[in-house]
Amino acid sequence: EARTALLELIEQSDNIVAFTGAGISTECGVPDFRSKDSPWMRYKPIEFNLFLSDVLMREEAWRRKFALDDIYSMAQPGRGHYALANLVQQGKISAIITQNIDNLHQMSGVDDEHIIELHGNGTYATCLSCGLRHELANVRHDFETTGAAPECRSCGGPVKSATISFGQSMPEEAMQRAHDVTRACDLFLAIGSSLVVYPAAAFPLLAAQNNARLVILNGEATPLDSEADLILRGDIGDILEPFSS
Ligand code: OAD
Ligand code: ZN
Repeated sequence: EARTALLELIEQSDNIVAFTGAGISTECGVPDFRSKDSPWMRYKPIEFNLFLSDVLMREEAWRRKFALDDIYSMAQPGRGHYALANLVQQGKISAIITQNIDNLHQMSGVDDEHIIELHGNGTYATCLSCGLRHELANVRHDFETTGAAPECRSCGGPVKSATISFGQSMPEEAMQRAHDVTRACDLFLAIGSSLVVYPAAAFPLLAAQNNARLVILNGEATPLDSEADLILRGDIGDILEPFSS
């Protein structure tokens, strides 16, 4: 059976990379992107250039951001997060590469050295000019009292959620780290991702080309299934539950 095969692969390896997508967090109440009814399907995403050039779009981006935060900023890690945290603790997983911005890997007890965020983090904001970190509670307070898109208290530059928008360049250091750990691993677990967004989805491909075993855990088929050594189709929390305690 596929779950026994997964157990065996994990037992045999001590250099596993986990690569996570929104499907690991849906049981925590965080919506994914491409399932029907996803709040992300409601609007056309605001591309980075528009955020920079159009102050009305910038305000709109913040309105959307805070509306979503009202829905899921209270989310807590789920079974999948705790399973991966345990495997990190046991020295099995060398890194978690995540496309998620929900901070739930950190909240499950994994330290920053083991987490690589490809699409940033939605639990704080940064100034696009000087890089200064801004706390969302302050940004929100200012936005809701003035109605104006927030500006950096240090340099006056535009403040943006610390996530990567479409059209924005990928974080260089995270990309480099992801590349290095992927090349070094012998088992790569792609978990809860539709594997359609690049460059992120290039990492499972790189792993397979580099002769690591590639395992895909997802509720539905992905375009990379033909590259996988093992596919587990089912609920992420159920599949990873045996590792979560
Ligand atoms: P998607 O929404 O594209 O894919 C999530 C996958 O998880 C889908 O195939 C779902 O069927 C599956 N899924 C959801 N809940 C599940 C569960 N409980 N058990 C098993 N499978 C489940 O999300 P990502 O692949 O993470 O980028 O999306 C990639 C990127 O697209 C995101 O990081 C985001 C988005 O645009 C940026 O914002 C830059
Ligand atoms: Zn600044």
